[in-house]
Amino acid sequence: MNQLVNSLVTQKSILITGGAGGVGKTTAAAALGTIAALETDRKVLVLTVDPAKRLADAMGLAKFGNVVTKVDLSGFGERSPKGELYAAMLDTKASWDDLVIRYAPNMRVRGEILANPIYRNISSRFVQSHDYIAMESLYDLYNKGDFDLLIVDTPPSRNAMDFLDAPERMADFFSSKLLRWITAPYRSRLVATAFKPFYQVADRIIGSDFLEQVAEFFILFQSMYDGFIERGKSVSALLRSDVTSFLVVTSPEYLPMREAEFFLGALRERHLNLGALIVNRSLPYYLGDQNAIQIAQRLIADSEILVKDRFLGVDPRIMRGVLSEIGSTYLDFSNLYGQQHNLLATLLVDKAKVLATPYLETDVADLTSLERIGSNLDFVKF
Ligand SMILES: Nc1ncnc2c1ncn2[C@@H]1O[C@H](COP(=O)(O)OP(=O)(O)OP(=O)(O)O)[C@@H](O)[C@H]1O
Ligand SMILES: [Mg+2]
Repeated sequence: MNQLVNSLVTQKSILITGGAGGVGKTTAAAALGTIAALETDRKVLVLTVDPAKRLADAMGLAKFGNVVTKVDLSGFGERSPKGELYAAMLDTKASWDDLVIRYAPNMRVRGEILANPIYRNISSRFVQSHDYIAMESLYDLYNKGDFDLLIVDTPPSRNAMDFLDAPERMADFFSSKLLRWITAPYRSRLVATAFKPFYQVADRIIGSDFLEQVAEFFILFQSMYDGFIERGKSVSALLRSDVTSFLVVTSPEYLPMREAEFFLGALRERHLNLGALIVNRSLPYYLGDQNAIQIAQRLIADSEILVKDRFLGVDPRIMRGVLSEIGSTYLDFSNLYGQQHNLLATLLVDKAKVLATPYLETDVADLTSLERIGSNLDFVKF
């Protein structure tokens, strides 16, 4: 195991992957969990969001859904795992309900919130609420202390750092003017009279009782305000503390790298700890090797000399074509590797924290490929 990977999985308690859509955040989280459980004595939980179906199957998540499930690592033959691996899928709705149950001032409010149609929609469908609840569940799991290492996968979000700010945004939201404005008619008779015509029209357009439900929801929710604010602060503090490291995942192409750059900047601004920049699906480093490049050039330039008469019983003209095609394809890949490497070199990041892992020929859908990805993670040479 690479030494940086080793220090991350043994010295940290929380690792959070983030990055552009489809770059391999879920794969990286699962791969790190797999090698950490195989090679260290830690009890690891991978908290994943929306994993690809086949990966969920491989980790036994398809059967158990949101329940924390032990992953069977017995398929590695002689290599019996030193630690333990567990996985769970984040269930936004159930986590929101837990939160309401915890912070509602009394049973009546709790019941009313859980039954409120707006709440039911927000908690199960509102994408932003996912970010908040992911951080919230993480805090809860960390405090319960059942695991040594929590590896958290984040959802693909339009704004890569949405989840970093989620706890604070939630606190801002509860004290916002908009919220006071929406709930005002329901809190004061005077304002209610003034707004009546507006609400009547709005209800006719949007559907009856909609605004009333919205207002009711927020009034109920405000009763939990203090609990939320306090909790949000604790969650932020945990994300900033030394036990947590962020792993920015990218693929080596232009757009994901630009997004990674943005993400790295966001971590710096917020004084959050960068564990590593993981360049997933990297081309092999030997594509940049000068000796290899010279060989490829010779295959093209000297193909005449390299091919003896009827070498391997093949017509020399065909053989020459094959050799120079191999040479030029190799050079194409070398070029691509060079471009990707140069792009990587421009990122403002501590180069000792840049790790790469190769492009596997198959989809990553079993524990063996996860192990391969994890154990192949290695420093990029600059
Ligand atoms: N190194 C790799 N080699 C081959 N295939 C890979 C590699 N890494 C990831 N994949 C494949 O790429 C796809 C996307 O990976 P993954 O689901 O981990 O990305 P993600 O960043 O979590 O995506 P999303 O943003 O949608 O959550 C998956 O099908 C996965 O199996
Ligand atoms: Mg994912």
